[in-house]
Amino acid sequence: MKNIDSHSHVRGESIYVDDIPERQGTLHGAIVTSSIAHGKILSIDYSKALKQPGVVRILTYKDIPGQNQIGGIIPDEPLFAKKEVHFQGQPIALILASTELEARLALHHVEITYKAKKAVVDPIEAYNKGMLHIPSRTFQLGNTTNAWKKCAHVIEGKADTDGQEHLYLETQGAYAYPVENGHITLVSSTQGPTAVQRTAAKVLGIPMHKIEVDVRRLGGGFGGKEDQATAWGVMAALAAQVCQCPVKLILHRMDDMKMTGKRNPYRSTYKIGLDKNLNILAFEADYYQNAGAAADLSPAILERTLFHCTNAYYVPHVTARAHSCITHIPPNTAFRGFGGPQGMFVMEAAIAKAAREIGVPARAIQKKNLLSNGQVFPYGQKVEECQAQPTWAGLEKKHSLHKIDKELQAFNKKHDHLKKGLAIMPICFGISFTNTPMNHARALIHIYQDGSVGISTAAVEMGQGVNTKMVQVAAKVLSIDASRIKIESTNTTRVANTSPSAASSTADLNGKAVEMACHALVKRLTKVAAKNLNAKLSDVTLKDENIYIKKKKSSFGWEALIQAAFLARVSLTESAHYSTPKIHFDKSKEKGHPFAYHVYGTAAFVVTVDCIRGRYDFDAVHVVHDFGTSMNRIIDLGQMEGGLVQGIGWMTMEELLYNQEGRLMSNALSTYKIPDIYSVPKEINVTFLHTDGNDMAIFKSKAVGEPPLLYGIGAYFAILDAVQQFNPKFEPEIYHAPFTPEKVLMGLYGDF
Ligand code: MTE
Ligand code: HPA
Ligand code: MOS
Repeated sequence: MKNIDSHSHVRGESIYVDDIPERQGTLHGAIVTSSIAHGKILSIDYSKALKQPGVVRILTYKDIPGQNQIGGIIPDEPLFAKKEVHFQGQPIALILASTELEARLALHHVEITYKAKKAVVDPIEAYNKGMLHIPSRTFQLGNTTNAWKKCAHVIEGKADTDGQEHLYLETQGAYAYPVENGHITLVSSTQGPTAVQRTAAKVLGIPMHKIEVDVRRLGGGFGGKEDQATAWGVMAALAAQVCQCPVKLILHRMDDMKMTGKRNPYRSTYKIGLDKNLNILAFEADYYQNAGAAADLSPAILERTLFHCTNAYYVPHVTARAHSCITHIPPNTAFRGFGGPQGMFVMEAAIAKAAREIGVPARAIQKKNLLSNGQVFPYGQKVEECQAQPTWAGLEKKHSLHKIDKELQAFNKKHDHLKKGLAIMPICFGISFTNTPMNHARALIHIYQDGSVGISTAAVEMGQGVNTKMVQVAAKVLSIDASRIKIESTNTTRVANTSPSAASSTADLNGKAVEMACHALVKRLTKVAAKNLNAKLSDVTLKDENIYIKKKKSSFGWEALIQAAFLARVSLTESAHYSTPKIHFDKSKEKGHPFAYHVYGTAAFVVTVDCIRGRYDFDAVHVVHDFGTSMNRIIDLGQMEGGLVQGIGWMTMEELLYNQEGRLMSNALSTYKIPDIYSVPKEINVTFLHTDGNDMAIFKSKAVGEPPLLYGIGAYFAILDAVQQFNPKFEPEIYHAPFTPEKVLMGLYGDF
């Protein structure tokens, strides 16, 4: 089934927040922000700004009737700064004017004086000063202290990853309007409608039922709108409440880049120990997460780093410590992989460095240590239905790694200034919110009298195709044509108390709820059919819009059945709640069974480095991936390709830079390079590994949103391999992604 949005997307007819026709009297917002990273506000003069044409009002912390607080996990983030500022771009006030241009022009007339304090932008510096959002956490398995003695090789090193800008095509934004009796409707580009509703209620000082949050779709979220759509939604709602008129707030691209948090940069140190047969015996690491000025989702992200610290490998002795460091940059946040990729990069760096010191290819160590059933993850969950070795074997067989390797060697012998590199990247990603209470969802289904169907769920469509999957689930269980089904907007009045659409779990959680509700409806309708056809209930089945009695098609079709049910006063509406069974986690022990299941796969990267210019091209990426039994191969392939390229971007060209004063230097698309069509690998081969799939996945079709990004890590190590083919002495002091062309040149010609 094609993505149900493809038609309207291609024709430019899909509606995003900024496309909603404006109501009469709409005011537009522009945000006054801090120009320094850390310090005190000494004075603010709004008088000139207020006199600018079109300006209606300026809202500050003084205008907040409820709490000036939007922190999601920890209440440490004001909506508008009061006296202190903690990052450049921190909101201080909201200017409201008749047009967007007038609001923006007035920004230049706000006069603020500050007393600046020193900014800290480096997480290790912050750690040494004791600047932490939460106490550090440690995952432990076995006993590393004793294990080192048994190791033939012990290697230590450092590995850093930079942040990543989400660059959703649709920037952050919201549109709010007052309805009667102090109620507010809030259209928000958010992955978490309930988070926006809850926080708006808190800031506005009104109960949640007075705020209806509505989301049609997002032009991309990638985690950047899991928590960080909230501020803009709340500002719009506040302004609508105060001014009693519609308020629209859409961030311009450069403002969005400046004000919002990104993937957390990490700095890490590690120690890895292997026996003489290349078995990894012990692994120790310290992860210094650059969390930014407020906790946001960083504590949860930190946890996922620990969950993924050994990637797809079995390590019997592990001590992994993670530190969420406070710095004076915008609060960093969820980004596809949610801390997992940052942890996995360190493991891969450790293996790469160990391989070099021992004098074997990295893939010899990788292959030797792949997970298998019956082993245990550092957090106590048992390894089950493990596809680490089968996907690796599939890659070897299908894409004959051996042959690729030989071709590379021949090529490199023949060419002086072009070198090819190869890296293999196995992945293992846990599916479920690591915070167990978040793993639930709901669906509300109406069958209308004419047989058409409307479905509401907690799922937010952000390009990942979840709405299409919801249609598929309902069509299959109700056994009707997909054209009869409409997916409604995600709305807190229809489906309340939702978790954000995130953790790759949206299709599983909401799909299961849709499945349950549809089964209940089918059960009820089957009774109606049996009664109308004077048949035994157990003989009746509903299939392809027809009623069958003992496999014989009756004359009674879907529409007639619905009519009959309606006339018999049988409810045609059903709601269901699904919560993931079996999962649990005990934070006091850091042990449990946090994930419904794991997703596995293995990728091979082939890169060619131009050793004169430092440029590189990816010749091919071959992937063997465990989709379970994919319910939509087109959508899943789209997720694979998009995630892979996004991961390659993070590892190669997206260089996010804050200077010592906490100013974002890569603040536009002219200074922040994201992958384009030219940087996509020339060949992307995806093989669907045939597995039974897992019952915890909707229709046994495994979650696919985040895992593909993880493959991107292989890009770094393929480039490293090629550079070392040219300059065998090259050994980075710190394995530091992204591997930009500048870093490649240094590696090619630096004297190491
Ligand atoms: N794909 C598109 N096109 N746009 C997005 O914003 N977000 C990713 C992934 N794929 C995203 C995407 C992230 S971060 C997550 S968690 C999942 O989709 C969320 O959707 P799912 O739970 O339905 O997989
Ligand atoms: N993944 C993604 N988003 C989240 C998670 C998680 O594990 N926990 C809270 N938000
Ligand atoms: Mo995705 S980072 O869980 O929104």
